[in-house]
Amino acid sequence: METLQIKDKKIAVSIPEAEILRQVKRVAGEINRDLNGKSPVFLPILNGSFIFAADLMREITLCSRISFVKVASYAGTSSTGEVKEMIGLNMDITGCDVVVVEDIIDSGLTMKHIVEMLERHHPHSISICTLLLKPSNLKVDLHIPYKCFEIPNDFILGYGLDYDGFGRNTRDIYTVVE
Ligand code: IMP
Ligand code: MG
Repeated sequence: METLQIKDKKIAVSIPEAEILRQVKRVAGEINRDLNGKSPVFLPILNGSFIFAADLMREITLCSRISFVKVASYAGTSSTGEVKEMIGLNMDITGCDVVVVEDIIDSGLTMKHIVEMLERHHPHSISICTLLLKPSNLKVDLHIPYKCFEIPNDFILGYGLDYDGFGRNTRDIYTVVE
């Protein structure tokens, strides 16, 4: 098994690039089908979703817009998903069909807060699209119509996801092996 070193962690490929791109294409196809005739606004959540969003958007054939947003957590409580504010939503989404694009949903608390914040802008609809979901960790009730992979409760990185800020710039998704 080939491994890489990121800081103190030894990592190995868990989802290769070709499989990622296959699933991204599948999910984009589902969005193209479901939102046919609509003009959705895609809202990728920075930083983690930047690579996923770039690949997803190039498979979207709908007349659509994209605006990257960032959520700031309360200091020291980011693990609780306590989101304070959304930065960068410089578009009026009132009446719009919004697709939130996330890298990973773990407990789901972050996404729950994002959906609640977006609801205050009265969009027509909000759909969740995530690259990865850890279903066994999900603590909140979320409808997630678009997901590329369900994964076990292991720490993963690469393809946009980080370990302590590092490791976002790989083509494959990796898991920690020790
Ligand atoms: P949640 O609020 O528990 O769903 O956490 C979601 C956020 O936790 C994601 O946006 C990631 O930033 C981070 N996260 C959760 N699991 C992982 C992982 O395995 N690798 C990297 N980041 C993760
Ligand atoms: Mg994230």
